[in-house]
Amino acid sequence: MGKIVRISGPVVIAEDIEGVRMFDVVKVGDAGLVGEVIRLDGKRATVQVYEDTSGIRPGEKVENTHRPLSVDLGPGLLTSIYDGIQRPLDVIRQSSGDFIRRGFTASPLNEGKEWDFTPSVKKGERVSEGQVIGTVPETGIILHKVMVPFGLHGVVSSIKSGNFKVSDTICTLDLDDGGKAEIRLKQEWPVRVARKVLRKLPPDIPLITGQRVIDSFFPVAKGGTVAVPGPFGSGKTVVQHQLSKWADSDIVVYVGCGERGNEMTEILTTFPELQDPKSGKPLMERTVLIANTSNMPVAAREASIYTGITIAEYYRDMGYNVALMADSTSRWAEALREISGRLEEMPGEEGYPAYLGRRLSEFYERSGNSIVVSDDERNGSITIVGAVSPPGGDISEPVSQNTLRVTRVFWALDSSLASRRHFPSINWLNSYSLYHDELLPWFNKNVAEDWSSIYSEAMGLLQQEAELQEVVQLVGYDALPEKEKNVLDIARILREDFLQQSAFDEIDQYCSIRKQYGMLKCIVELGRAQSIALDNGISMSQLQNMSVRQKISRMKEVKENEFPSYFEETLNMIHDQSKKILEVE
Ligand SMILES: Nc1ncnc2c1ncn2[C@@H]1O[C@H](COP(=O)(O)OP(=O)(O)O)[C@@H](O)[C@H]1O
Ligand SMILES: [Mg+2]
Repeated sequence: MGKIVRISGPVVIAEDIEGVRMFDVVKVGDAGLVGEVIRLDGKRATVQVYEDTSGIRPGEKVENTHRPLSVDLGPGLLTSIYDGIQRPLDVIRQSSGDFIRRGFTASPLNEGKEWDFTPSVKKGERVSEGQVIGTVPETGIILHKVMVPFGLHGVVSSIKSGNFKVSDTICTLDLDDGGKAEIRLKQEWPVRVARKVLRKLPPDIPLITGQRVIDSFFPVAKGGTVAVPGPFGSGKTVVQHQLSKWADSDIVVYVGCGERGNEMTEILTTFPELQDPKSGKPLMERTVLIANTSNMPVAAREASIYTGITIAEYYRDMGYNVALMADSTSRWAEALREISGRLEEMPGEEGYPAYLGRRLSEFYERSGNSIVVSDDERNGSITIVGAVSPPGGDISEPVSQNTLRVTRVFWALDSSLASRRHFPSINWLNSYSLYHDELLPWFNKNVAEDWSSIYSEAMGLLQQEAELQEVVQLVGYDALPEKEKNVLDIARILREDFLQQSAFDEIDQYCSIRKQYGMLKCIVELGRAQSIALDNGISMSQLQNMSVRQKISRMKEVKENEFPSYFEETLNMIHDQSKKILEVE
C-alpha cells in the first residue's frame, strides 16, 4: 500500500504505490482524494490532487486505481454541469452542500435513468471502431449516436432495442481477434489523449455567430481556433456567451475556468434559463458546462480544459459541430504555474513552466473540421474560442503570446472602446482572421457575389479613417477635402450602425448573415453615392440632409423577417435621393 510522505498544497509525494505508472489516478489519504501521478522517480510518485489537501497527513495511505484520468461519455452529458474532473455539481450540492465534500465520488452520468435505444445495425453485421450502432434521443434537440468504442472490430453477435441504463449492455461483438466485447451506452476515454480522426478537412465553412464584427470582418471557420484577449471588463465573457447562444454549432461545451465565483454563478444561473433561439428549447439541451471557480482546487482547474475538449471530441465524433469556450485560459495557465512551482520545476518566463506553450498548442490542436474514424464519411468539427485575460491587458505576456502562436483568429478586445460603450469592443484595426481568404468563396457563393468587394471597401474605409483622424488632429476637420470628409462620414456610420451591436437588445443581439450583408451593402452604397455627388459639385453638408441616412441608422432595429423589403427600400432611396440632389443643383 502506498503512503504519503510529503504534502505541498495540491501536490503530494507518495511512496510505494502498488503497480504505479505515470498518469495513474490514485486515491490519496484516508479521505480518498482524487489525484493523478504526474512524476515518477523510483518508488516515489508525485501526485497532483484534484481536491483540497488540507487535513491529510504524511503516513496516510495512497491507493492505485490503475486507470488514467478519464471521462464517462454517453447520453446525459448534455444539460450537465460538472467540475473540472467531471463530478456533477448538482449531485455534489445535494449531498454535501455548496462545498464539495472531499473524497466525494459521484457517477458523471445518471446511472438510474433509462434511455430509448434504437439500433441501426443487425446481428451478423461487421462493425468497427467509431461506427454508429444506434441512437438515443438525448434531449429534445440532439440525437445521441452510440458508437463502437475505439479499438474494437468484429461482428455483432447480439443487439437490443428498447429502454436501457447507461451501464446496461446493448450490444455484444465477436471480435476479429477471437475475443468478445460488450458495448454499453457509456464509454470511457482518458482526457489527456486526443480521440483520433481519419483526416482533417480544410477550414472553409464559417461558424456563423450572428455578431456582425465577427462574421463580416473577422470570421472563424468551423473547426477553427480563436484567441480573445482583453483586460477585465472588456467583454470576453459576453462574447463567449453570445457565441454559445447564437453560433450555428450543434453543441456547446463551456469551460468556466478559474474566474471569480460570482461570474461563474451567473453562468450557472443564466444558462439553464436561456432558450436556444433555433429550436425554442432550453439552451442547456445542447450544452455541457464545466465550472471551476477561483475558490475550487487549482489542479481540477488544470484538468478542466481536458475534460471539456474530450467531451467536445465525443460529440464531434457523432458528426456534430461543437463550439468549445474556455474562459479564461489565463486562469488555467496560473493553475499550471502553481503546480509547477510546487514541483520545484525550473521556471520559465514570468514563472510559467517551460512547457506552457506546448500544453497550449496541444490543447488548440484538438480543434478541427474532421472526417471521423469510420467508413461513412461522417464529418464533425470542434471550434475553440479561448479567452485570455492578460494582467493589465498587455498581450506581450507569455499566455497571450503562446496562445497567439497557435490560434488563427484574434479578436482584440479594447478597453478604450469598452469605456466608450462601443460593444463588442473588438478593435477592427488590430484584430485578424487568418481564415479570411479560405472563407471568402463561401460568402461569395452563399451570401452575395459582391461580398468580397463590399467587405474590402468597408474595411478600407475604416483603415482610411484611422489615418485621417491623425490628419484631423493636425489641421482640423474643416480643412479636409470633401472626399475625405465622406470617408470619415461613412466610417462613422460603419462603426456606430454596423460594428456596434448590443448583446442585450432583443432584436440586435443576433444578426443573420443576410442581414449583415444588407446592412453593409447599404452603408457602402451610401458612400459611393455620396462620392459621386461630391464629384459633381455637391457639398457634404447638402448630403447630410438625405432622409435615407436615418433609415440606415435604424437598420439594426429592423426585425429579420422585415429586413429584405427594408433593404430594397433603403437601396432605392439612396439612389433616388442622391440623384435628386444632383438634379436640383
Ligand atoms: N456586446 C455587448 N453589448 C453590450 N454590452 C456589452 C457587450 N459586451 C460587453 N458588454 C458590457 O461590458 C461588461 C463587461 O463584459 P465582460 O464580458 O464581463 O468582460 P470580461 O469578461 O472581459 O471581464 C458587461 O457586463 C456588459 O455591460
Ligand atoms: Mg469575464
